[in-house]
Amino acid sequence: MTTPKLEIRGLWKAFEDKEVLRDVHLVVDHHEVVCLIGSSGSGKSTLLKCVNLLVPVDNGSILLDGADITAPGVNANQVREQMGIVFQSFNLFPHMNIIDNITLSPRKVHGISRSQAEDTARDLLERFGLSDKVTEYPDRLSGGEQQRVAVIRALATEPDLMLFDEVTSALDPELVAEVLDVIRGLKSAGMTMVIATHEMGFARDVADQVCFLDQGRILEHGPPKQIFSTPEQPRTQQFLQRIIDATQYGVNIAQNHVNSLDETQERLRMFNLLVEIAPNEHWRKLYLLDVQRQRSLLGPTQEGKPDGA
Ligand SMILES: Nc1ncnc2c1ncn2[C@@H]1O[C@H](COP(=O)(O)OP(=O)(O)O)[C@@H](O)[C@H]1O
Ligand SMILES: [Mg+2]
Repeated sequence: MTTPKLEIRGLWKAFEDKEVLRDVHLVVDHHEVVCLIGSSGSGKSTLLKCVNLLVPVDNGSILLDGADITAPGVNANQVREQMGIVFQSFNLFPHMNIIDNITLSPRKVHGISRSQAEDTARDLLERFGLSDKVTEYPDRLSGGEQQRVAVIRALATEPDLMLFDEVTSALDPELVAEVLDVIRGLKSAGMTMVIATHEMGFARDVADQVCFLDQGRILEHGPPKQIFSTPEQPRTQQFLQRIIDATQYGVNIAQNHVNSLDETQERLRMFNLLVEIAPNEHWRKLYLLDVQRQRSLLGPTQEGKPDGA
């Protein structure tokens, strides 16, 4: 049996007298992708911060490649060098251009030469389609681009474990996909990842294992198919139903808005946008039908126009 990449054993954490993590157990194998789902306040961020040693644990242990990183005397900086973490807010330094943002930690913390750090950074920027942003400043980039830079910055020290905490929550809906695609790319490349997310479609797609956290416990875990299709725990069912209801609500609002637009051309444009950000295949098909409907209203002269549908 090989040693797992990450193992969490009986982890407890309280802030003052509030228990936030209660007896959490988790095994993450090499190249495995684990998604943490659960309501706000269920403990997802705290769990990731414990793994990154940003928050000290009260009880239990965390093993990285078999070594207990919560043991006394462990050098937290050395542990953190082995993993990358990305948060909801991008936290790029506004006064530094993109390449300086990415190379700062490799140079200052890891002692890598500027030229070597810049070579790595340029390779990563190219790999993630941001080659033209090398000397740009963060405020000139879209939210999606900034978050991709934040991912690249976390990758710049060549970690083999990545932690993601709701990295798309602060983004406009149309920018979410480009960041999720970056994470999909990392999965294809074999990266081990623990991802707190509220993007259920993405979790279903990318996760090998999904953990549902509820009030600081992993209430249920298993392959995405099992958790999303046949959850055993009533709390998991309730949580998933709430997400479905909320999505439906958002979909209705979006559709009413589009229908209220006067110009057919404008409606067509908005439906095309909805196709792109549709929460699932079902809604994509419905929007595509609307795209066809709007097109037929525009008349035969408009047919064949490239509109991305
Ligand atoms: N530094 C802190 N001090 C006090 N309470 C905290 C702190 N960080 C998180 N909490 C509390 O811990 C609980 C879990 O929070 P969090 O891990 O952020 O959950 P999630 O990421 O699932 O939304 C919440 O009740 C939150 O208010
Ligand atoms: Mg959180």
